Amino acid sequence: MSDPERLTRKIREALAPCSLGRWPTPLEPAPAFLASLGLDALWLKREDRSAPRCGGNKVRGLEFLLADAPAGSVFVTVGGTGSTHCLATAVHAAALSCRVALAQFPQPETDASRAVAAACDAHATLVVRAPTRAALPLALLAAWHGARRFGPRRWIPGGGAHPRAVVGHFLAALELAQQLPAPPEAIVAPLGTGGTVAGLLLGVAQLGWPTRVVGVRVAPAIVANRWRTRRLALRTARLLASRGVRIAALTSRMLFQLVDGLGGKGYGYPTADGEAARRLAAEHGLTLDPTYGAKAFAFLLQRGTCNVRRVVFWHTFGVPCPTPEPER
Ligand SMILES: Cc1ncc(COP(=O)(O)O)c(C=O)c1O
Repeated sequence: MSDPERLTRKIREALAPCSLGRWPTPLEPAPAFLASLGLDALWLKREDRSAPRCGGNKVRGLEFLLADAPAGSVFVTVGGTGSTHCLATAVHAAALSCRVALAQFPQPETDASRAVAAACDAHATLVVRAPTRAALPLALLAAWHGARRFGPRRWIPGGGAHPRAVVGHFLAALELAQQLPAPPEAIVAPLGTGGTVAGLLLGVAQLGWPTRVVGVRVAPAIVANRWRTRRLALRTARLLASRGVRIAALTSRMLFQLVDGLGGKGYGYPTADGEAARRLAAEHGLTLDPTYGAKAFAFLLQRGTCNVRRVVFWHTFGVPCPTPEPER
């Protein structure tokens, strides 16, 4: 099946996701950046605008991860104090009359991570913060046990990195094909737990595009790496096959470029390159977060590594919603 629209329908019928986002997310040309980046064309895929309540790249995956949970379920998941995965899970689970318990490890404080942490406190039913990264397993145990008193529990892995969620990102690539007249030379996205890039790789393979997928690593290599990303993609193709949907496999000829955006200090710390990218973006009215978007956008400023001319930038960070809606 090659028609992206028909394939999307078939997958939605097979996996029955719930409805949390507004699709398609806008694809915006960004001509103001062309001169400074030395590109012929740049589009921004506005995943940050995926939902009015709490947008960002995680919404696509959550439509599949939260599907079929009975009202009253408690989703338990894990992430940094500034994790938008944690926040998006809390906000969107609440919209389905479910709750969320979070186990979190400390993350460097920036305006963005502080805002996300405050919003997590406001939206999640239970937040257990580990004092150090090493203490995360204990925090996770406490969150898992603590969640029991609120309802039946379901586990969601960190970052929502699960084949069901990757299906959502695969559909994003099919959506992109309906918005662009021709394949871009590159799609640039932050690479954290890998689900987003895994879905994009599967999408590019399915579309038969010659496009390079550039994953800019923003988390430690043990989490954000080529092997894990490919494995997620493989498991996603298997999941779809088990539901009667065959999609193209990744091939070794595919252009998957992994770039280190992490810098010396680690996850969540702003980098000099990222901050330069953030300033440039801000000059043109684009707000990037320091942990994900700024580091990925910085790739476009590196003239040495960037010999592509027509690029889609995956804009993933949705600005957090500060307060929950009042309970009725
Ligand atoms: C704003 C934002 N962008 C990008 C990513 C990376 O996505 P993935 O974990 O699917 O690699 C994340 C992950 O948490 C995120 O919150």
